[in-house]
Amino acid sequence: MAQKIAIASGKGGVGKTSVCVGIGKALTALGMKVLLIDCDCLRSLDVLTGVTEKLVYNFGDVIFGRCAAADALYENEGLSVVTCPDSYDNISDYSMKWLVSKYEKDFDYILLDAPAGIERGLHMALSVADRAIVVSTPDLVCVRSACIAGKEIEKAGIKNIRLVINRVSKKDVIRGRLLNIDSVIDATQVQLIGIVPEDPKIRLGSMGRDIYRKGQVSYKALGNIAKRIIGQTAVLKV
Ligand SMILES: Nc1ncnc2c1ncn2[C@@H]1O[C@H](COP(=O)(O)OP(=O)(O)O)[C@@H](O)[C@H]1O
Ligand SMILES: [Mg+2]
Repeated sequence: MAQKIAIASGKGGVGKTSVCVGIGKALTALGMKVLLIDCDCLRSLDVLTGVTEKLVYNFGDVIFGRCAAADALYENEGLSVVTCPDSYDNISDYSMKWLVSKYEKDFDYILLDAPAGIERGLHMALSVADRAIVVSTPDLVCVRSACIAGKEIEKAGIKNIRLVINRVSKKDVIRGRLLNIDSVIDATQVQLIGIVPEDPKIRLGSMGRDIYRKGQVSYKALGNIAKRIIGQTAVLKV
């Protein structure tokens, strides 16, 4: 039975989708069967996983009986993806639970890529999540929204909440242009699970390029987060 992990942030553009895909690929490389569900109706998961050309159905089609669950499942390089409809209208927590029940037996992990904000999209993802990861970049604006998102997740009854600090540039931290790691943990009040460096290869993910390849700056960091998710120890390196 899959463990379900919601990836949230509060503020948009902090790297939720990129981190979701990166961790998904890293978990796959560790031999896990992984499904990513896009819970953001603005949709970007399909672009970052390279399945856009194949898309016909989204999970709204499954919920409203227009296709079978298997028809809305798209696969690329061992990673499976289900995309989001254009709106959250009429998608209840109950229908999300039913949807996930159709997939959870076939996967070890289901990562739910939540939208920005603390509204319906986030709650839709949380309604089926066992755990959550809050993504924040190391700046004052993002840590505030990550803290608010963390509280919202707690209110939804999820106890296992972890923090990924994304787009860390050591040079900028030393020059005082970004917050240091301790300050981000203090401000978000969420326990750290990993740090992802600023990586030009991840930036190219928005152009459909693969964001998880051996040799790139963030490869090890994403791999270490995946290891910690499955309960292995991995040294934290900044
Ligand atoms: N670690 C990183 N290094 C460089 N660019 C990144 C990194 N993480 C995300 N980005 C870039 O930041 C932008 C927003 O990322 P995205 O994953 O879409 O954020 P969100 O899902 O939170 O809106 C994208 O252009 C993406 O390529
Ligand atoms: Mg996103």
